[in-house]
Parts: sequence; structure tokens; C-alpha cells
Amino acid sequence: MSILRGVLFLTLYSQVFGVFQKIYCSLSDSCECDFKPNLRDLEWDLYRNVYGQHLVQDIVSEEVAKFLQDKNPERPLVLSFHGSSGTGKTMVSSMLGTHLYGWAMSSPYVHQFVPTLHFPSRQLVHEYREELKGWVQGNLTECARSVFIFDEMETMPSGLIDVLEPFLGPAHVVFGTNYRKAIYIFISTTGEEAINKVAVESRQAGRDREEITLDDLQEVIAEMVYNHRNNGFFQSSVIRKKLITSYVPFLPLARRHVERCVRSQLCQLGSCGNADVVQAVGGDMSYTPVPGEYFSTTGCKAVSAKINVFL
Ligand SMILES: Nc1ncnc2c1ncn2[C@@H]1O[C@H](COP(=O)(O)OP(=O)(O)OP(=O)(O)O)[C@@H](O)[C@H]1O
Ligand SMILES: [Mg+2]
Repeated sequence: MSILRGVLFLTLYSQVFGVFQKIYCSLSDSCECDFKPNLRDLEWDLYRNVYGQHLVQDIVSEEVAKFLQDKNPERPLVLSFHGSSGTGKTMVSSMLGTHLYGWAMSSPYVHQFVPTLHFPSRQLVHEYREELKGWVQGNLTECARSVFIFDEMETMPSGLIDVLEPFLGPAHVVFGTNYRKAIYIFISTTGEEAINKVAVESRQAGRDREEITLDDLQEVIAEMVYNHRNNGFFQSSVIRKKLITSYVPFLPLARRHVERCVRSQLCQLGSCGNADVVQAVGGDMSYTPVPGEYFSTTGCKAVSAKINVFL
């Protein structure tokens, strides 16, 4: 009898709580209200719409799921995306924002930085450090679940990103703000030589692309990022202190992947099944290395421009 009463109480409680939460969320613009992670949709989007990136699909869906399941994470989720131009790095970062927040990428809690726009002058690093720290701290105080996306890290002045070190580690709760619930995404082409080399060697050895594992790449990317002078993580304490949860390698795309990009974009234009354009665009891309010509030098980046030419 007491079990029955307990169940009844819990059901009633959750219903009443749900009603109050709805009223609260309709009156406030709290970030917890807008935070509506949909892991199934994220996985579906990753596995269906990102071509040729088995490592990205596995790492991103696993890390995000693990992080969100933990109601009190010990440290924020810090992912660093690497790979050549046009392989899907910015696209995947948008998918994350889209499936975490009700307002998707327009959510006021998803923040995107592009260094050439926000930190254009290397001489002003000192000022930028103060601004960036204040900005991140302010946003985390407002919303512990904030997402920060730093794109094109190869153009970020070195010495700037280290100001975020206290936020990226297992820091304590400061002034009631839990810094450990945030998500940080860093994006750069740094490490592309190492990633592409592994992909070419695997192809030359006749192995399946899916046989490439994260172990083949994780260490070498970290090393390149730390030692490469032209990128925001050059000799950074963020790398030295191992504050990146996972390096996410984007493999170079082969012609069949480029053609899938063409097909998908043609469908969006209402021209599904136009095989001539698919062939023409696929054949018009440049491929490396010579000899071999396995991978598109611009990934899927030039696809929409070329479709306009051939359609
Ligand atoms: N792996 C992929 N699967 C499906 N579409 C892709 C993929 N990679 C790129 N695309 C398509 O190409 C466009 C450009 O990709 P994206 O902007 O994500 O490249 P990027 O890796 O960020 O390149 P860059 O380093 O030049 O910024 C995307 O909008 C998408 O349409
Ligand atoms: Mg990009």
C-alpha cells in the first residue's frame, strides 16, 4: 500500500513540477529552458548527413552523450576539430548547436568566435585576453550550459586562448556558477598533413577507410597543434595540461563523398537524380596526391559553386 502511495506521489509531483516548469519557462528566458538536447536527432544527423567521417560520427556522438548523461560533470566538454578545408568541421559544429538548444544556432547561449573578425590584430593580444575572459565568465554566469565555438583557430593570435585555462579544467564552482557544464569546440586545419598522410597510406595499403582509428591520430594531432607556430594553440598550456577531451580528425573526402554532397545539394534545389551534374561536378574537382588522386583538395567546399556552373 505504501509503495502505491509512493508511486502516486511521484507521478503527481512530476506532473505538478512539469506544469510549474512550463509556466516558469514561458515567463523567463532561462537557458535551462532553452537547453533541449536531442541526442537521437544529433546522432541521426551525424550518421545520415556527414559523409566519410566515421571517426567524427563516433567521437562526437559518444562524447556528447557521455557528457550530458553526467548531471554533475567533473570538467567541461572540450572538443578540437581538425582536418582539411571542406571536410565538414563547421557543419558538424552547427549540428551540435542545432540539437542542443531549442533556438538552435540562433540561441543566445551558443557563441561563435572567428579570430579574423573578433581578434584581428596580433598586437592587441593583451586587451583581447581581458575581453575574452570577461566575456566567457559573464556568459557562464548567465548560463552554465553555454556552448563556445572557436572557428579557424589557425588564425587566432597565440597566447590568447590560454586565458581560458581556468574554465577548461576541473575548476570548482565559482560564485555559484558551474563552469564544468559548458561545451567548447575548437576548429582548425592544423594537423591536416598528418591526418591526410594516414588516409593516403591506408588507401595505398588497400585498407578500408573505416579501419583508421583515433589512436592512429590523437597523439600526432596534439603534437602538431602544440608545435605549429601559426595556430592559436602554439605552445599553449591548454594542450600541455591535456585539457582537450578529444581531438576529432576529419578525413579528406574521396570523389564518392563529393558526389554524395552534390546529390544532396541537388535534391535541396529540387533537382534530385540529375546524374550528369553529379558526374560533371565530381570530375571537375582537383584530387591529390599525384599519382593516385584519391582525395578532393577542397573537400565538398566548392560543390555549390560548381553546381551553379553545370546545372
Ligand atoms: N563530410 C561532409 N559530409 C557532407 N557534407 C559536407 C561534408 N564536408 C563538407 N560538406 C559540405 O561542404 C560545405 C562546407 O563544409 P564546412 O564549411 O563544414 O567545411 P570546413 O571543414 O569547415 O572547411 P574550412 O576549413 O575551409 O572552414 C558544408 O556546408 C557542407 O554542405
Ligand atoms: Mg569551417
